[in-house]
Amino acid sequence: MLDGDGAPGAEARQKAMNLLVRYGEALGAERLVDTNNVTGTAGSSSTFIRDYYAKDGDGDRDRLFSRFDLDSDEAADHIPVARTFTCHLQTRIDPAHAEMMGTPSGAVEFHQESQAHSASLGVNLLNTCTPYANGNVPVKGEHCAWMESSAVVYCNSVLGARTNTEGRESTAAAMMTGKIPYWGFHLAENRFGQHRIQVEVEMESVMDWGMLGYFTGAAVEEDIPVLTGIEAPASLIRHKHFGAAAASSGGVELYHVAGQTPEADTEAQAFGPNKPALDLNFGPDERRRTYDTINGNAHSDDVDYIMLGCPHYTIEQIWEAARLLDGKRVHENSALWIFTARQVKDVADRNGYTKTIEDAGGVILTDTCSAMSAAVPKGTRVAATDSAKQTHYLPAITGVEAWFGSTQDCVEAAITGKWKGEAP
Ligand code: F3S
Repeated sequence: MLDGDGAPGAEARQKAMNLLVRYGEALGAERLVDTNNVTGTAGSSSTFIRDYYAKDGDGDRDRLFSRFDLDSDEAADHIPVARTFTCHLQTRIDPAHAEMMGTPSGAVEFHQESQAHSASLGVNLLNTCTPYANGNVPVKGEHCAWMESSAVVYCNSVLGARTNTEGRESTAAAMMTGKIPYWGFHLAENRFGQHRIQVEVEMESVMDWGMLGYFTGAAVEEDIPVLTGIEAPASLIRHKHFGAAAASSGGVELYHVAGQTPEADTEAQAFGPNKPALDLNFGPDERRRTYDTINGNAHSDDVDYIMLGCPHYTIEQIWEAARLLDGKRVHENSALWIFTARQVKDVADRNGYTKTIEDAGGVILTDTCSAMSAAVPKGTRVAATDSAKQTHYLPAITGVEAWFGSTQDCVEAAITGKWKGEAP
């Protein structure tokens, strides 16, 4: 592939392989590994990118892909279809709610064209940060090339599949070659735990797992934590919120829960040859301090905006939100937006949850989220969310204050317009 074989698309594949070789050499990979599971943003581009490359006369879709996705100074004229199973992550636009989110109509049109181009290359348009809950579920030991920190940490830790946190360019190159550099989390010896966190509080809710994740990420940064002392098995949703938070306050890409996750039947297995470098406790004091840290930027209890669905809500979470909102009404001074994948919304539509939520004054959006699209309801000063990750990013991206609490706290705030949260 690196030498080019003259077949259709060989020039683009050559550029893709050139990128992978440079990347592998920079990271000290001795070889490439086959992958048939790529999850990235291949083919997506914004009007900014279009305008940037248009200056060089590269307005054509394939040439844009070559310049932007394959990081190639010289554009290839023809991009061949994907060689691997490839999925698209979240985007920046929900076409169905573009006006409500303040997206310019020209951007929506260009986005739709981008999506059509991605599909023509064989990219499956899941458009979600939770591919693992929407049809892309790799198995233990499977070599993947995934982007999106919350998806990567789930893929490695909960599924036991193997991926580094790839980028736009390396996933595009992997999609065209079926290869990815064999380094980092692809190697069994790099997957053992490095620090122990003894959990000394009951882990009773998604919120508890979000706080534990936030504490863990801040403590271990990019290393691999092993959580001990947790009796009750965590659900998909709890892992989803834990991993997203740990990858936000730190850069956790893999964690183990002793006795629960696939590479940690026992604590000894999780650590392998390693001795824990840090030995930390997560007790009531740490929990309280973490709660206060996450909520450190919020002051006013008048809540304008309640954001649910980071990472994208599962159907179970939409079902729960619908039950909490049934027969209630979102306060006139507040807005409630719930983000999910289109396929989940489809089930919510068929089950009547969408109607229940809309009757209460809430809206279900897809494909994106407030942080990705930098969009909040007009005039928002104070937001509330049940996601430690979204609380971490939203103030920096949109300038709002943001409260963090349970789903019930958030729905209560949507109905009353007031934040109550946890008693100190
Ligand atoms: Fe997903 Fe947006 Fe959160 S992309 S993980 S909902 S920041």
